Amino acid sequence: MKWTKTFVPTLREAPSDAEIVSHKLLLRAGLIRKLTGGVYTFLPLGLRALHKVEKIIREEMDRAGALEVLMPTMQPTDIWQQSGRYETAAEVLFKVRDRAKKEWLLSPTAEEVITTVAASEINSYRQMPVNFYQVSIKFRDEIRPRYGLMRAKEFIMKDAYSFDVSDEGAMASYKKMYDAYKRIFDRCGLKNFPVEADTGVIGGNFSHEFMVPAETGENEVVFCEACGYAANVEKATSGIPKTAAREVGGTVEKFATPGIVTIEALTKEPYKVAANRQIKTLIYVADSKPVLILIRGDDQLNEAKLAGVLGTTIFRPAEAAEIFEALGAHPGSLGAVGVKKFSVYVDERLRGANDMTTGANEDGFHFKNVSIERDIQVTKWADLRTVTAGEPCVKCGKSLKIRRAIEVGHVFILGTKYSDKLGATYLAEDGSRKLCVMGCYGIGVTRTMQAVIEQSNDKDGIVWPVSVAPFTVCITPLSVAADSAVMQLAEKMYAELMARGVDVILDDRDERPGVKFKDSELVGFPIRIGIGEKSLAKGEVEIKPRGGAMLAIKPEEAVEKVMKMIEELMPRTS
Ligand SMILES: Nc1ncnc2c1ncn2[C@@H]1O[C@H](COP(=O)(O)OP(=O)(O)O)[C@@H](O)[C@H]1O
Ligand SMILES: [Mg+2]
Ligand SMILES: [Zn+2]
Repeated sequence: MKWTKTFVPTLREAPSDAEIVSHKLLLRAGLIRKLTGGVYTFLPLGLRALHKVEKIIREEMDRAGALEVLMPTMQPTDIWQQSGRYETAAEVLFKVRDRAKKEWLLSPTAEEVITTVAASEINSYRQMPVNFYQVSIKFRDEIRPRYGLMRAKEFIMKDAYSFDVSDEGAMASYKKMYDAYKRIFDRCGLKNFPVEADTGVIGGNFSHEFMVPAETGENEVVFCEACGYAANVEKATSGIPKTAAREVGGTVEKFATPGIVTIEALTKEPYKVAANRQIKTLIYVADSKPVLILIRGDDQLNEAKLAGVLGTTIFRPAEAAEIFEALGAHPGSLGAVGVKKFSVYVDERLRGANDMTTGANEDGFHFKNVSIERDIQVTKWADLRTVTAGEPCVKCGKSLKIRRAIEVGHVFILGTKYSDKLGATYLAEDGSRKLCVMGCYGIGVTRTMQAVIEQSNDKDGIVWPVSVAPFTVCITPLSVAADSAVMQLAEKMYAELMARGVDVILDDRDERPGVKFKDSELVGFPIRIGIGEKSLAKGEVEIKPRGGAMLAIKPEEAVEKVMKMIEELMPRTS
């Protein structure tokens, strides 16, 4: 491609609404343009990089035996009603109406559609295992679209769905995708690592997210350097000790605590109740009913874990008026002693705890000497707390760390949730009818492309891995007169590299060398070949890997050298 024949609107400054470096660089390098919040146009070079990411994904999905399909983006609502997600996913669903006022949904993922296909097309155990995938535009009505392609309202996702005859079969399909994902992100040149992920409402233990470490990532990952344990903070557990039981006698005692409405305040004189001897009582509204959640005073509630326990993602903290109506007191004086009307979910760390202090459901009063099992009617014990850095690893006891990361992919065992609701059954070998066991597997394609930039850049611009760069080589002649020796050599190398299958761009603009160099660094081509009159007179051209040292080389050796460099720079997968 000749630079003058393509379209690369580079910018010296990023628009002020671009907050993170990758978003700025996508705009500055002329790869994308914003239409409106969360909605972007891919310009020619951005699209080339995106297509390279997609190609890697397709190659690895095909290698793993998955079959590419293309499902409708516009979907009727009935299958979403059947799956239950018309309600449970309502927050992110885009709804549109046709001329007959019939409602349609714009697909955020395609479990309902693929399960409908399976319900009619998979009849026998002989047709499984099978895994269908697609690369397509998805829509999500994100509350806070931000960071460019990272969290968009319209984006490209690769989604795959496996169908198996058994749980073991589903596990094998899952493992294949897990391995394929590792290869995909490695080949994109991304440092990446899988972490145990929250399985939310579906439950079970088979979900991993593929994470790219980045300060700007929206996820927090808990990890152990000693044994390799890694989990999203939404899922992570630790080996932190439970609350120590104490030798105390007697029963619950009420005492006055005028004006005391925080855990912190109760730790001070004259009360001096340590936070780890207090119970924090939180009120949420789930399914239109208040529920009580108890965690230790020095712990934080993890809402993702709560969703798993409540079996729904539709819940919210109760408002002050609702709390007062339910318990007859205001936040800061709440507790679960004697509460029988509402469900009480208690964090495992409080199991066996006694000599605890908690609100008395009377403003200005607390109870002390509370023994949870004796004094509180527990509906369910569950892991509800958030792990913090420095706690002992749940596997090996060494100290846990926390870092931020970008979720680029997600693999998930679905079980029979969708096949049950949408009737995807098959005739088993023993003649009985059974439900297909499903898995689903997503990759944020556009997010992955941006994650590459977020991870790989310097003060001058993007540093593309050769596998996903819009062009691998940029030839930069310093004079562009058609009859100049410089331009003739540039054209010759351009033709040779193209003939050898290299994606090469020839910067044939009549611009100052400084401008050309700056632009090629900004866009981030992995290898630049500089050809100038002076060096050519010395019998040399200059090869510069992006971010590496310049190398002067004889013109006739340049193409060979570049081919070798490309080979060496290509990201590997283990
Ligand atoms: N709003 C979005 N913008 C860009 N990519 C997204 C968005 N939402 C999800 N993705 C990508 O799609 C992949 C699969 O989506 P999924 O796991 O269903 O999303 P989530 O974890 O947000 O519920 C995610 O791993 C992520 O890479
Ligand atoms: Mg996810
Ligand atoms: Zn460990």
